[in-house]
Amino acid sequence: MRVAVVTDIHANLEAFKEVLADIDRSGIDSVVCLGDIVGYGPDPEGVVDLLLERRIPCVMGNHELGVLGRLNLAWFNILAQQSVLITRSLLTLEALGYLAGLPASLSLAGSLYVHGFPPDSITTYLYSVSDFRLRKVFTTLEERISFVGHTHLLEIIGFGGESITGESITHAPLRKGVTALEPDRKYIVNAGSVGQPRDGNRNAKYVIWDTDQDALEARFIPYDVAATAEKIRQAGLPELFARRLW
Ligand SMILES: [Fe+2]
Repeated sequence: MRVAVVTDIHANLEAFKEVLADIDRSGIDSVVCLGDIVGYGPDPEGVVDLLLERRIPCVMGNHELGVLGRLNLAWFNILAQQSVLITRSLLTLEALGYLAGLPASLSLAGSLYVHGFPPDSITTYLYSVSDFRLRKVFTTLEERISFVGHTHLLEIIGFGGESITGESITHAPLRKGVTALEPDRKYIVNAGSVGQPRDGNRNAKYVIWDTDQDALEARFIPYDVAATAEKIRQAGLPELFARRLW
């Protein structure tokens, strides 16, 4: 089975459409979305519509919490607060209702999907978690692989198994292309960001997990950055969110 994991789309319709086109060409059996569907970008409603149209299961992100008034605005920096308020004004009641029904996590076919950190944190950043806490979570998690978003960075953290790395926690960037997994090891995989890159590369990123090959593939997808940047300006969203796309 080939599972595509998309996260942090952030209302970037151009990026999401190109990623879906790539998914359609890549022999994918199912798609899962890890939240932050909205925020920063100009097309929150359009992205929600596509997720619904494609029946893509999705978990809650911190930007959804903000838009729904379930996370205090003070949690966000001042520009992100503007984004939350503008995003709220761009969404229909139907879309807000959809966002309100998103779960904190999903366990599907032996894998866990959560926005921030397993088992169900929406707001914890992976880079803020100590190895001590990682070890504790890895030993209690039933699922072998957990997929997370939130940091907008591609990363793979491994634990356990019979190999030379054994019980030690390993951290590595998840590089473009294919990464083979070790059969007895558990993993937390940070799937990057479709719509708001923070790794110095302007392409949309997503991850394919091939369960038969037991391998991950990080895909880098070009899209019309100029079109999204212009729409961000036209929507009155902070200029930084347009510039950061490049
Ligand atoms: Fe995000």
